[in-house]
Amino acid sequence: MRRFLPLLLLPLLTACPSEPTPEAPAGFPTVEGLVPLEDLDPTDGVVEYEMQMEKEDLELLEGQSTRMWTFNKLSPGPLLQANVGDRVKVHVTNQLDEPTTVHWHGLRIAAEMDGVVMGSLVAIQPGETFTYEFTPPEAGTFWYHPHVRSNVQVEAGLYGAFVVHEAPEMRPEVDADRMFVLDDVRLDSDGSIADHATAGMDIMHGRAGNVLLVNGSSDAPRVDMVPGSVERWRLVNTANARTLQLEFRGLEVREIGADAGLWPQAWVRTIDELELPVGARAELEVRLADGETQGEMNFVVLVSDGNGGVTDDAIQGVRVRPPGGELTPIGAAGHTADPTMRVPDRTMDDTVNQVVEFSGYNDNGDIVFTMNGRSWPDYDDWTVDRDEIQVIDITNDLGMEHPFHLHGQWFSVLGIDGDPVEQPGLRDTVLVRGFETVRIAASFENPGDWMVHCHILEHAEAGMMAMVTVRD
Ligand code: C2O
Ligand code: CU
Repeated sequence: MRRFLPLLLLPLLTACPSEPTPEAPAGFPTVEGLVPLEDLDPTDGVVEYEMQMEKEDLELLEGQSTRMWTFNKLSPGPLLQANVGDRVKVHVTNQLDEPTTVHWHGLRIAAEMDGVVMGSLVAIQPGETFTYEFTPPEAGTFWYHPHVRSNVQVEAGLYGAFVVHEAPEMRPEVDADRMFVLDDVRLDSDGSIADHATAGMDIMHGRAGNVLLVNGSSDAPRVDMVPGSVERWRLVNTANARTLQLEFRGLEVREIGADAGLWPQAWVRTIDELELPVGARAELEVRLADGETQGEMNFVVLVSDGNGGVTDDAIQGVRVRPPGGELTPIGAAGHTADPTMRVPDRTMDDTVNQVVEFSGYNDNGDIVFTMNGRSWPDYDDWTVDRDEIQVIDITNDLGMEHPFHLHGQWFSVLGIDGDPVEQPGLRDTVLVRGFETVRIAASFENPGDWMVHCHILEHAEAGMMAMVTVRD
């Protein structure tokens, strides 16, 4: 991986952001942190990838091996990239011993290529190959994962990042572009993935891991940053259930984008902490704060205080350090691109068109989760016309949180419990806390049948999933 490059290369990499490194596939800017997959089709505007879903022993914790489910023997899987508007083909072979799919989380592509199992859409059987073909209509940071037994398959390591690059003139001019896939996993003391519970707290709140991973490693990766340089960081939370609370120290961080790509300048804001629900992405502009030579991004987690209570603890996620050897501080422009984003024209005062109610009940010891009173594969009819904008209230009857996720469309967040909120950007995932109502406005521009569900994977698998039909 890039962070283990010999030190000699680092000043060069930092000083020449546009210089392609040997591993960078031609045609794409370099994104560091993951292994990029080779594009098999040299034609401009066409990207062709091949992936095997197979088991492999990986080292998540130093000195211990974990049997993982992987894409091309990697977890996270390889970095997939395309330029906005490219024709993308991904041949996926299932070498696992159970059916699976690949869902392209956040991409507004055709419904038949969305990687879900419903109606005429079927899973990839063991030994079979399926080719996903689509054209990403927008740039941004997306991710991929199976949509079959997702609580087990994603926990076992099946997830990866998909970066759709902006047209060259819209790209921020940065010294480095980095991807950080953030996850937690629950390991037994022998390093194996702990068994999945079928009842109790793990279903109730979703499964929390006991090891935090950044790009598949429990060791906080080191980023070598020259004071004065500007970096783009892309974050995605691929955990089954854990809402990530992140804090930044020694760094000046501006939030420049979210699920649906980079924001117009008017929304950009300085932050020193960030809440990232499962499934969601964030785009950040990161530099060392004035006078600092080191910084870090930490996970803030609740730990026992030893007196029966809990307290906050910070666990290192990313360490920013000065590069070894000769420093060549270089000045760099901040992020100045100013993309336009079409936000649904609705406010808190507009009429609510649809209510989505998260709830659940206990069925003889089994927890059943519901949306509008029904549990997947049963669902309440919800049909909208193409290009219709709906104001949607997502209500939560329960004490636990539910990250609401809508496939194939984007929405803006209007308010919480009747009050307007500042959650700029278009999103495909929003957190709904216990007993809260979140109001969003979605523009249903992409026709087809689309899943809508809670992204806590244990909740989704226990029925908290439904469908919306966008009629052409
Ligand atoms: Cu990332 Cu339906 O999920
Ligand atoms: Cu949920």
